[in-house]
Amino acid sequence: MQTVQDAAALRATIRGWRGQGLTVGFVPTMGNLHAGHHSLIKLARARADRVVASVFVNPTQFGPNEDFERYPRTLVQDQVGLAEQECDLLFAPDVTTLYPFGAENSVSIHVPQLTETLEGAHRPGHFDGVATVVCKLFNLVQPDLAVFGQKDFQQLKVIERMVRDLSLPVKIMAAPTLRADDGLALSSRNQYLSADDRALAPQIYTTLQQMRDLIAKGHAWPVVEQAAASKLARAGFEPDYAAIRRSDDLAEPVDGENEGLVALIAARLGSTRLIDNLPFD
Ligand code: PAJ
Repeated sequence: MQTVQDAAALRATIRGWRGQGLTVGFVPTMGNLHAGHHSLIKLARARADRVVASVFVNPTQFGPNEDFERYPRTLVQDQVGLAEQECDLLFAPDVTTLYPFGAENSVSIHVPQLTETLEGAHRPGHFDGVATVVCKLFNLVQPDLAVFGQKDFQQLKVIERMVRDLSLPVKIMAAPTLRADDGLALSSRNQYLSADDRALAPQIYTTLQQMRDLIAKGHAWPVVEQAAASKLARAGFEPDYAAIRRSDDLAEPVDGENEGLVALIAARLGSTRLIDNLPFD
């Protein structure tokens, strides 16, 4: 697997593939890769002739009090894992390649509506940073398809909306959430959990399952949300939200609506913020 840092080298390799009529799949990441990321590479591998991954810890999607500085940077280890997954090319740019005028002076892409709720409400500006960097990466790589994890459900919806609204010529594919045996969604942030908190963390997934089951039994969604948030708080979490939403636009369901929904949770354990979700039909 080749690793390139600059845009010219990236474009040269991809131009070569295009000349041979090959299709290109793309998996953007922030590195510190785990089996969840690897499953995205595998999906791209199955759907495209060549696979490009990117590793870039994007400054514009972190808030002032978030973990940008201490976000784990493990490029050598990431390269080994990507090569094992038969990724063809790793794009690992520096900040000036993606933000030639500086991160603060960048053109910014704002996806309205979808970003005003849930993660967007708790992390102001986060999705502007995500949409902006993903659009820049799409312009550099120009992939036929790009794979995103359902783990970040709202992010997936924001990217789908951006692609449609800006008529970007890329197909977005969703990959299911990969979990540890006890149900905890794999995340780079899990390594920050103390042993006690790691033992508690799977309750996020069991709570999502309970939310789904209560909706299936006909309970009203605001009651289900309340019960889930109280349960998490009693167990020692600080929940930001436990929400039932429509999975296509993340709007609140109307009374009695119980199809095409998703349960979403964000909760803090100590200083670590975990998110997870469970779509159900
Ligand atoms: P990152 O957190 O590194 O995640 C990269 C991709 O891996 C995302 O599409 C995410 O949803 C997916 N992913 C993470 N954990 C997963 C799991 N347990 N199962 C399945 N997929 C999982 O998301 C980002 O980076 C950034 O916001 C990015 C899109 C790269 C823009 O900077």
